[in-house]
Amino acid sequence: MGSMSMRTKIDVEHVLSKLNLTEKIDLLSGIDFWHTAPVHRLGVPSIRLSDGPNGVRGTRTFLGVPAACLPCGTGTGLAATWDVDLIRQGGALQGHEAIAKGASVLLGPTTNMQRSPLGGRGFESFSEDPVLAGAMSAATVNGIQSTGVQATIKHYVANDQEDQRQAVDSIVTERALREIYLMPFMIAQRDAKPDCFMTAYNKVNGLHVSETPRLIQDVLRKEWGFDGMVMSDWFGTYSTSEAIKAGLDLEMPGPTYIRGSLVNQALTCGKLEEHDIDERAREVLKMVRKAQDLGLQENAPEETVDTPETAAQLRELAREGIVLLKNENDMLPFDKEKSIAVIGPNAADAAYCGGGSASLLPYYAVTPLKGLQAQAPHAKYALGAPGWKSLPLMTRMTKTKDGKDGLTMKVFLDPPSVKNRKPVDEVYIPISDVQLTDYKHPDVQTHVYWLELDGTFTPSETSEYEIGLAVSGTGKVYVNGECVVDNETNQRRGDSFAGTGTVEEIGVLKMDAGTTYDIHVTFGTCPTMTFTNPGSNDYESGGLTLGLERKIELPNEIERAVKLAKEVDQVVLCAGLNKYWESEGYDREHMDLPPGSDDLIKAVLAANPNTAIVIQSGTPITLPWLKEAPALVQAFYGGNEGGNAIADVVFGNTNPSGKLPLSFPLRNEDNPAFLNYKSERHRAVYGEDVYIGYRFYEKSKKEVAFPFGHGLSYTTFDTKDLDVQDDNDDDIVISATVSNTGKIDGSQVVQAYVSQRSPSLNRPKKELKGFTKVFVKSGSSERVKIVLSKKYAASFWDEARDAWTMEKDTYDVLVGNSSASTPLKGHFKVHKTSWWRGL
Ligand code: BGC
Repeated sequence: MGSMSMRTKIDVEHVLSKLNLTEKIDLLSGIDFWHTAPVHRLGVPSIRLSDGPNGVRGTRTFLGVPAACLPCGTGTGLAATWDVDLIRQGGALQGHEAIAKGASVLLGPTTNMQRSPLGGRGFESFSEDPVLAGAMSAATVNGIQSTGVQATIKHYVANDQEDQRQAVDSIVTERALREIYLMPFMIAQRDAKPDCFMTAYNKVNGLHVSETPRLIQDVLRKEWGFDGMVMSDWFGTYSTSEAIKAGLDLEMPGPTYIRGSLVNQALTCGKLEEHDIDERAREVLKMVRKAQDLGLQENAPEETVDTPETAAQLRELAREGIVLLKNENDMLPFDKEKSIAVIGPNAADAAYCGGGSASLLPYYAVTPLKGLQAQAPHAKYALGAPGWKSLPLMTRMTKTKDGKDGLTMKVFLDPPSVKNRKPVDEVYIPISDVQLTDYKHPDVQTHVYWLELDGTFTPSETSEYEIGLAVSGTGKVYVNGECVVDNETNQRRGDSFAGTGTVEEIGVLKMDAGTTYDIHVTFGTCPTMTFTNPGSNDYESGGLTLGLERKIELPNEIERAVKLAKEVDQVVLCAGLNKYWESEGYDREHMDLPPGSDDLIKAVLAANPNTAIVIQSGTPITLPWLKEAPALVQAFYGGNEGGNAIADVVFGNTNPSGKLPLSFPLRNEDNPAFLNYKSERHRAVYGEDVYIGYRFYEKSKKEVAFPFGHGLSYTTFDTKDLDVQDDNDDDIVISATVSNTGKIDGSQVVQAYVSQRSPSLNRPKKELKGFTKVFVKSGSSERVKIVLSKKYAASFWDEARDAWTMEKDTYDVLVGNSSASTPLKGHFKVHKTSWWRGL
C-alpha cells in the first residue's frame, strides 16, 4: 500500500475535498519524530523529514545509520569558503544523502546569526553578515532542491542563542530584524525559494514566532511570496488556535500534544473555522505532492553512500574553508620530509562537528593526527593537554564478551530490586553515548525501563583512570563489583542531554596494565531521575554517556609535549573546541579554550618557535598567545575529512583560500552583544541593534584579533583597476583585476562593501553587499565582476515608513579583502528617494 500510494501522484485540491475533518486535522501533526501522517485511503503517503544541516542524520539517534558529515554544520566552516558554487554542490551532496536515508525533506540550512562568539549553535549558522549568510543559505537550498529533496530553512527568526531558547523573547527593533536577522532568509527566498520554513523556538518582541501572524503570514507569505510549508521546531508549537491562525502548517514532532482533539474543540467553540484547517492542510499536501516526485518508498530503509567521490567532495569542502590567519615569514607550509610532532588535545580526536541535532554519526572521521601521518608517517604525537569537556567515550577502550569494541546492553522492564528479572532485549553498543529517545522494542511499551551495560577494560598503562557517567535518568558504574560512580543518590543538574540531564559524575580508580577489569553499568530511564529539568519530557527515555580516560596530570602532559617539541624541526599544535563545548542546548560560558590548552600552547611555542597552531572551533576563541605564534590556522570542524584537509593545508597540497565569515574579537567583552547575550527573566535585548559583528568593530574603531573576511594565502594577490558601472536603476556592476603576484596558484575572494555618504540616520560604516571568489594562476591576472542589486545595496529599513528606503545620495563602493582592508574605492548614485517592500 505504502509504495503504491507514493507512486500515484495526488491532486491536492481533490484530496482536500475528500478528506474528512479528522483526517485533515491528523495531517497537521507528525506521527512520530520524523514522519508526517499518511491518509492511505486517498493515496497520501507518510513523508520522512531528517536533520540537517550538515549531513543527513536519518531517523534514529539510537544506533543511527552513519552519514557523510559536511564541515561544521552548514555553518561557519562552509561559509568560510565564500564559494557559492562549491556550497551548492555541498547542498546537492546533502540531497543525495537524504535520498539514501529515505527523507524527502531535509531540516536545513540553519540561517541564524552569530550575535556573540558564545552561541551554542553559532557553528551551525553561516555568518555574522546577512549577505554572506543569505548567499550561503541560498546556495545550500539550491543544491539540496536540485536533487528533488525539499530544504527547510531554519530557525525563522532571531533564534541566536540557546539560553532558555523556548522561553526567551528576542527583543529586537524592526530595523535590526529586517536588515540583519530576516535578511538572510529574505535572500534565500529571493534566490532559492526553499520549499519549507521551520519556525524558531523563541519569541520575537513578545510573541512566539510559531504563533506570530505578522512573521509567517504577512512577511513570509505575503511580502516575500513564500508558497511552501511552515513547520514548528521540535516541540516548538505552543498553542492550538493561535498557531494555526498564524499560519503554522505542521506541528513537529508527533504524536501531537497540542493539535488533534484540541483542534476539534477549537472548532466547536469557534476559535477556528474549517477553512483555517483547510489552509494548513493544503500546504502539507503540497509538500507531500512535491515529495512524490522524488518517488521514495514510504518508510524506506536507510542506506549509506560512503563512496570515494563523497570523500573527495567532503575533503574539498573542508580544505576550501580553512583560513590561514597568520603566517609570519612564510613559515607554512611545512616540509613533509623534515621531522615533525603533532601535539594537542584536538590532534588525536576528530572534532568533526558541533553538538546537538546537527551532530550525526559519520561514516568515519579522520583526526588531524591521522591526516598528517598519512602524508608524513614519521610524525610523532603527544597529547599535551586534555581538551575534552566530558571524558572521551569509554567504548574506545572496552570490549564485549565476544571481543568486539564496545559494550553489551541489556534491557529490563523491572528495576534492579526485582530478583530474577529477565532482559527483554540485548543490543551491541559500539558508542557509549546512548540516546534512547527512539529506542524501540515490542516489549518496551513505556518510557520507564532499566538497562545494564557490560564490557571489559584492559589498560595498557598502569595509572589512575577516570570513569565518567552523565545521565538523563539514573545510573551507577561498577568495576569488578565495586561502585565507582554513583549518579543516582545525589544527582546534580548539568548540561548533558541538551540541558535536561546531569553533570558528568567522575570516579577514579587505579588500574594495572595487562589486567582485565569487568565494567558493569546499571541505568534507569529519564522518568527515574530524582529531579526534572524543563524539556526533559521531550527526551522521554533519556540516555547515558560513559567516559573513560587515564587520569591526566596537566604539568606532566605539558612536559612530555615540550620534550617532544624540542626534538623535532616542526610542530603542528592542534587545539580548539568540540561538540561538547559548542552545542545546541547551551551557550558557551566564555570565549577561552578548554583549561590547559593556552598553557600548553605557550609552553610549546617557547620550546620550539617553528610551531603552527591549528584551531578547530565553529566560533571565535581568545588567543592570548597570538603575538608569540608565527602561524595560525582556523580549521573549524571539518566533517569526515577534516584531518586530511588540515594536512593538505599544513603541507601545502592546498593553497588556503578561506576567509573568516565572522570577526574574531580580542575578548568576549569587546563583542557588541556582550551585555545582552543571555536570557534574563526570559528576555534578550538585541541592544546592539544593527551593529552586529564588524558593523560594530568598524564603527567603534575597536581593535579585533582578526577582522571579518580576513584570510591569507601561500601566494600574494594585488587587486586593482576598480570600475563601478552605474548606468541603470537596477544593478551596479563592479569589476576589478586580481593579479597573482606570488609563486603558486591560488584563489582570492574579492569583497565589495557599500557605505552611504550622508544617510538620514545612523548607519554602519560599511556593509558587505557582494563578493566573488576567483582562481588565479601564478603570474597571471583575472578580471572579476560582481553585480549588485541597487535597492539591496543602498536601502535601510525605515521604521517610520514601515518599508525599505533607498535614499537619494552617493554611495561609496569599498573593495578589498576584509572588512578592515578595503583600499579600492568607487561609488554609485541614487537619484531619487523611494520606498519598497517585498523581495
Ligand atoms: C532543533 C532543530 C532540529 C530538530 C529536530 C531541534 O531541537 O532546534 O534544528 O531540526 O530539533 O532534530
